[in-house]
Amino acid sequence: MCGIVGYVGEQNSAPILIEGLKRLEYRGYDSAGIGILDDGRIQLIKEKGKVSVLESEMKKRQVIGTTGIGHTRWATHGIPNQVNAHPHFSSDDELMLVHNGIIENYKELKEFLIQKEYIFKSDTDTEVLVNLIHFFYVNNNNNLYEATRQALLKVNGTYGIAVLSRNNKERIVIAKNGSPLVIGIGKGENFIASDVNALITHTKNVIYLEDGEIGEITKDSYFIKSLNNDSISKEINKIEMDLEEITKGGYPHFMFKEIMDQPISLNDTLRGRTILEEGISKLGGLHGFEERILQSKRIIISACGTSWHAALVGEYLLEKCTGIPVEVEYASEFRYRNPIIEPSDTIIFISQSGETADTLAALKEAKRKGALVLGIVNVVGSSIARASDAGVYIHAGPEIGVASTKAFTSQITVLILVALLLGRRKHLSIVDGKEIIQSLNNLGDLVNEILSQNSEIERIAEKFVNAKNFLYLGRGIHFPVALEGALKLKEISYIHAEGYPAAEMKHGPIALIDENMPTVFIAPKDAIYEKVISNIEEVKARNGKVIAIIDKDDKYVENLVDHVIRIPRTNELLMPILTVIPLQLLSYHIAVKKGLNVDQPRNLAKSVTVE
Ligand code: G6P
Repeated sequence: MCGIVGYVGEQNSAPILIEGLKRLEYRGYDSAGIGILDDGRIQLIKEKGKVSVLESEMKKRQVIGTTGIGHTRWATHGIPNQVNAHPHFSSDDELMLVHNGIIENYKELKEFLIQKEYIFKSDTDTEVLVNLIHFFYVNNNNNLYEATRQALLKVNGTYGIAVLSRNNKERIVIAKNGSPLVIGIGKGENFIASDVNALITHTKNVIYLEDGEIGEITKDSYFIKSLNNDSISKEINKIEMDLEEITKGGYPHFMFKEIMDQPISLNDTLRGRTILEEGISKLGGLHGFEERILQSKRIIISACGTSWHAALVGEYLLEKCTGIPVEVEYASEFRYRNPIIEPSDTIIFISQSGETADTLAALKEAKRKGALVLGIVNVVGSSIARASDAGVYIHAGPEIGVASTKAFTSQITVLILVALLLGRRKHLSIVDGKEIIQSLNNLGDLVNEILSQNSEIERIAEKFVNAKNFLYLGRGIHFPVALEGALKLKEISYIHAEGYPAAEMKHGPIALIDENMPTVFIAPKDAIYEKVISNIEEVKARNGKVIAIIDKDDKYVENLVDHVIRIPRTNELLMPILTVIPLQLLSYHIAVKKGLNVDQPRNLAKSVTVE
């Protein structure tokens, strides 16, 4: 996690760095810092807390200089405080470094450096790295690039780094391994950042660094090499994102905007990807891979967090439409348990950010073992997108709120498109294919119908602000939705919540039910509706409070439960896209009413680039 930025040019770097850090704050927000080089003098300001705290501190001082680096932190080594915040200096204050990642062998490197009389002020692995670079710096005639290169050859772990030195004015050395890093190319100025959000107001021309690459930027030049010092020529990519996509656009929170944006984001996901007459989808990123996927003996879907919940929905969709067995694995478990992977397997990795460390590592492991690796990713040009053999972008637009909402519904939409693409080559009929596409085309209207109940959902939320626990129950394709509803509530309201398959309730959670325990049932009229009704009765018989997500024409459940939220009907495969939206709104309103920071909940970060 953590976000890093850097600037070399002719303008004062301070406001540019602060603006960049604000756009990266979703990556971490427990402390922030900026270091600016001005005529051989380094000005360093670090503060515990959000970037706004750093910004107000900077306003009190005159910080000026045309070269600078900045960092917003999500603590890994050392508690969040001013000392542990980045940038970190070398012992003699000559070098300064910002780092996103973890140096795994920092303990042995620290012992080595202590023997060489280096002094440490913080508990961080980053301070070890800056001193290690310094060790090579003095042995290489103050050549910052060469010192950084030699130091990184001794390092195990992940890093996106930017380094400055007093004696190397107007240049920043950068390197990447496992944490994202991008260079923004300007005119008479260059930038670096953890992702393009931080660069978008300055340039649309960017270069993505790959793992094992190191380079240097000055105001009018840059180079990139391998750690073995071989030159690498890189492609300049054009960013297609607009500034308004990463602002709140009049909404009080990014999360609320992203929930309300779903009719648009779903439309963007679908645009140009279906052929109604043939009842099939058209996914350019999978073109030429269809037969290979269909010949797979099994499909594995792997992901973390909300994306893992989308994967569980994908299991239902793909098995139903293709008849190929599908397994779902947490990426963090998958990568470490030495999974049996055959070249005949297809493994799909789902990630909003495309940077989640566990997902990326699992992907590399699957590739090493010869499986076909597909990515379903939101962030264009991200590490997972680039490392996949083929894949599909979800095109949900930037998601800034830490709790994922629109990415989840777009991930499911892409999984439906994949199921359609493959299913139509297997036993899915043209009639069924057309029916799914017609339903997809109507999705925006149905989502709007649910969003128009926002005020009613807010009123329901009001009643549960003081709840200590919540249970979310659903069956079949709605079990993952129950998990996602519980996760949303936990993440932003800090209320303990569990998702369960409704039928499993009687094997444990039923013991928790009393008048203080709200249960959310996802109970649309489907093949197992009657069974879910029985589960609702069981909760009511124990005086539990029930909120039920039901079909709009359901008259029965209304009389049975405390609160209902009505949703329109669509094709069964698309229903999770609809049933999750009231749960997103419910958790949002509960968190807002508790006065919590919904966009930046405590201890979490949007992009988890540590293991
Ligand atoms: C973090 C985020 C979640 C996200 C998960 C996986 O925990 O807070 O919202 O679902 O990472 O992220 P990814 O970018 O791989 O989908």
